[in-house]
Amino acid sequence: MTTFQTPKGEVLLRKATLIDAPKVSELRREALASNPTSFGSSVEQPDRWSFQWAEQLINSPEDYSLLLIAEYQGDMFGMAVIRRPNGTKVSHGSTINSVYLKPEWRGFGIMQQILGQLQQWAMDRRLHFIKLGVTTINESAHRSYLRFGFVDYATEPKDIFFEGNYYDEYLMIKYLV
Ligand SMILES: CC(C)(COP(=O)(O)OP(=O)(O)OC[C@H]1O[C@@H](n2cnc3c(N)ncnc32)[C@H](O)[C@@H]1OP(=O)(O)O)[C@@H](O)C(=O)NCCC(=O)NCCS
Repeated sequence: MTTFQTPKGEVLLRKATLIDAPKVSELRREALASNPTSFGSSVEQPDRWSFQWAEQLINSPEDYSLLLIAEYQGDMFGMAVIRRPNGTKVSHGSTINSVYLKPEWRGFGIMQQILGQLQQWAMDRRLHFIKLGVTTINESAHRSYLRFGFVDYATEPKDIFFEGNYYDEYLMIKYLV
């Protein structure tokens, strides 16, 4: 858990608990509806799907995933997930996804704080790297990841297929060791 100041006031970043599942699910649906080319899942999937998505992440063992939420005065406005596979030969790595901030909270560097917390989670578990994918048209998110120290290592062609168009994805990595 951590707090920091923004031009709009003090923001809290913390691990989501089961009580947060309905709000996480709502925010997830907002993310999928407003940024359809940024996420593989679709808002057309039923409500219960996003609720189960949140519940499963929150319930998963704490060494295998962290669902981080951002709040201002108790109102949730942001989220991000880091996960690690459980196979013995792949559990040295981790992946970030589902990063979303409500529009009125963008441009204050909150993403950098969130990435810092996710990275700390990975470092506490002595993981070797963090990977992620970002659609090539999502320039501001891509720049934000570069600013944090991620580098591009490949481009995944036609990763997203939405409304008849394909979207490529930059695959990025940050080494921790
Ligand atoms: C990606 C995201 C989390 C970045 O959050 P953030 O805290 O605004 O990140 P930063 O503060 O590092 O700013 C990112 C960029 O947005 C710009 N920005 C400034 N004000 C902004 C505003 N009101 N709205 C949107 N972007 C703004 C910043 O200047 C910066 O651009 P720059 O790289 O040219 O300097 C956020 O834009 C978001 O939720 N986007 C929609 C979902 C998404 O794309 N998720 C990532 C999937 S991989």
